[in-house]
Amino acid sequence: MAGTKTLTIIKPGAVANEYIGPILAKINANGFHIAAMKLIMLTRKMAEKFYSVHNDKPFFDGLINFMTSGPVVVAILEKENAVEEYRNLIGNTDPSKAREGTLRRLFAQSIEKNAVHGSDSDENAVKECDFFFALSERFSKFE
Ligand code: CMP
Repeated sequence: MAGTKTLTIIKPGAVANEYIGPILAKINANGFHIAAMKLIMLTRKMAEKFYSVHNDKPFFDGLINFMTSGPVVVAILEKENAVEEYRNLIGNTDPSKAREGTLRRLFAQSIEKNAVHGSDSDENAVKECDFFFALSERFSKFE
């Protein structure tokens, strides 16, 4: 059975452009429950660890610089089939390829400054929720 939680990050560009409210409104309007949320500054160490699967990619340094350039919102979102449903809502990694109405189409600046992150599998969703929220299962309407 598909999982019920996913992790999102509202990235520094979207926070700086005052898109926290509009993005959260879309998240709620699409049936997600916000189970946990905080506004934080990522340290380089945290960002490098969170994105460690990309550490051999040419965009890695730029990604880390961007993700540590200002505050971010991290949140656990809950819904049936949360990972796939949220990836549908955020759209393609590259905002110029993202469908009309998706969060990245509406709020992203570029493939690097792409407004939001969403977990890519149920397994990673659990890891990513635990990365930011100790005892993340406490924040659940399902468990
Ligand atoms: P995210 O969903 O947070 O996961 C990895 C991030 O790397 C991705 O969003 C983009 O912000 C970034 N990324 C992926 N591909 C590229 C690319 N080709 N150039 C720059 N940044 C990228």
